[in-house]
Amino acid sequence: MAWIMKNSAAMAIDRRDEPYLTDRMKAELEADVLPRYPTRQAATLPVLHAVQHEHNYLPYQAVEEAAAFLGVSASEMLDTATFYEEYWLTPKGKYLIMVCQSISCELMNHGQLLEMIQDKLGIGPGETTDDGKFTLMTAECLGSCGTAPCALIDETLHENLTAENFDVQIGALQ
Ligand code: FES
Repeated sequence: MAWIMKNSAAMAIDRRDEPYLTDRMKAELEADVLPRYPTRQAATLPVLHAVQHEHNYLPYQAVEEAAAFLGVSASEMLDTATFYEEYWLTPKGKYLIMVCQSISCELMNHGQLLEMIQDKLGIGPGETTDDGKFTLMTAECLGSCGTAPCALIDETLHENLTAENFDVQIGALQ
């Protein structure tokens, strides 16, 4: 595998005047989230989740704002945001489909699901439809091996899937 070097120091950040981490969000985080953690930095993950939940992804400006809010450096915040694949630094589709590819789901033919989605939506894993409606990802074990194959659509787990019944469920969202 080749390493790809990115010139991050010269990277331009798209900015807007309106903050991503609004006063309302800060007040909610101060009241509901921060009291559950021993330090502000310890709340890094839920704060990033809250920003992403509000804006669909984590614009770099939002990462900076979250860092300032928690009193950590922007680079520390970006380290965290890039470490976990649950955080998105680019916009994702309105619906995020995650098909489990771990052993039980693989044995129960998760490949049929992926093939169906690829044919239906014209995207492969890691891609988003042109209309911005669906993003497809593969995932490791979703913790429901007994009902494999499984997939998530956003935060809802779908079990005992077949290409046919998942086709219907995705069709209902189109
Ligand atoms: S292997 Fe797919 S849910 Fe466990």
